[in-house]
Amino acid sequence: MINFNLYNPTNLCFGKDAHEQLATLIPSGSKVLMTYGGGSIKSNGTYNKVIAALSNFEVVEFGGIEPNPDFDTLSRALDIIKTQNITFLLAVGGGSVIDGTKFLASAALYDGDDAWDILDKGIRTEVGMPFGTVLTLPATGSEMNSGAVISRRAIGQKRGMGGPGLFPLFSICDPTVVESIPTRQLANGLVDAFTHVMEQYMTYPTPATLQDRISEGILSTLMEIAPSLLENPKDYDLAANFMWSCTMALNGLIQKGVPTDWSIHAVGHELTAAYNIDHARTLAIVLPSMYRYKFSQKQEKLAQYGRRVLGLSGTDFDVAHEAIDRTEAFFQSLGIATKLSEYSVDITGIEQRAADQLKNYGWTALGEHKDITPSDVEKILEMAL
Ligand code: NZQ
Ligand code: ZN
Repeated sequence: MINFNLYNPTNLCFGKDAHEQLATLIPSGSKVLMTYGGGSIKSNGTYNKVIAALSNFEVVEFGGIEPNPDFDTLSRALDIIKTQNITFLLAVGGGSVIDGTKFLASAALYDGDDAWDILDKGIRTEVGMPFGTVLTLPATGSEMNSGAVISRRAIGQKRGMGGPGLFPLFSICDPTVVESIPTRQLANGLVDAFTHVMEQYMTYPTPATLQDRISEGILSTLMEIAPSLLENPKDYDLAANFMWSCTMALNGLIQKGVPTDWSIHAVGHELTAAYNIDHARTLAIVLPSMYRYKFSQKQEKLAQYGRRVLGLSGTDFDVAHEAIDRTEAFFQSLGIATKLSEYSVDITGIEQRAADQLKNYGWTALGEHKDITPSDVEKILEMAL
């Protein structure tokens, strides 16, 4: 097993009415900037619950953080933080609001001239402004990790950032919020979390037996609950298992001691940058082609997944192929198209464009063996058209 350090300071407050703890979780005397998205928190009751819990704090609000949070929108929030002497941030929303708030936590204490450098130059955030989250959409795991992904539509980029200063101080995860989530976003959450596990698992056999079994447990749980969850998101236990699986998929635990391969995300981000396609949908487009393209290197682990998670039997070769087909069918069963041509976008030249962009970022060696080059990405995207 590869050596590792496991550090995760987030106080995860999980369960019905967990938001009631808010008042004691935020440091007293804080001046709070509450960030949120396009307004779903106002129609599903979350806004009122949070505002009631914050009655003893001075609160400034910043709404309108869009899905795939944009640098320009966040720059306006950054001005407010600086001019109004904000000392604590509270993100109320899904991955986009949380990620946007992580950017703000970093940028608020950044002393360079241009906060975009944090993303463009890959500057790690060692210390950020303290922040907490109230999660409204299980999917990204952002509520318990220290990463964020920020878009800048003006220049067609979507870039990642992170560092130990970007763990939320706390995250409120109340599964009752799941009943308000539209089917499209539930499906997105299932696929995003599923792919997070795959990116940390689908490499090659390693001696990390426990990590494999935990990953397989999350994959099995997501597949098991998916059909009933889409039908009945009001079922508390389904919602709770969904929420906890999404957090566990990307809170750092299952990546410890094992090789990882984040190539599906790297390529998927280019599809969002080009077309604004939902993050999870880009993963559903890229994953089957990535695994078919890298079949020989991933065959053994694909077969392990096929046997243990999907209950398949046969030769490694047959089980591994069937496992990719079944995974693609699982995504489709959630109403998610797995070919780029099924989305209403102009796909001309996207393979070249994505490959060029990855080259610009210096990402010329993706995958667990660091052997996926921009020209491989072109071929993988051709298979996904
Ligand atoms: O903006 P509002 O009105 O809140 O509506 C949102 C948004 O339109 C809506 N929504 C959220 N909670 C809801 C709800 N609607 C009804 N009821 C609720 N309870 O859902 C829509 C999508 O929200 P968004 O936050 O964009 O979705 P998600 O959580 O999937 O986040 C996606 C972003 O996270 C990044 C993605 O790249 C993308 O930018 N990721 C972040 C990661 C991380 N920090 O670790 C890892 C992921 O791989 C991912 O890259
Ligand atoms: Zn993701």
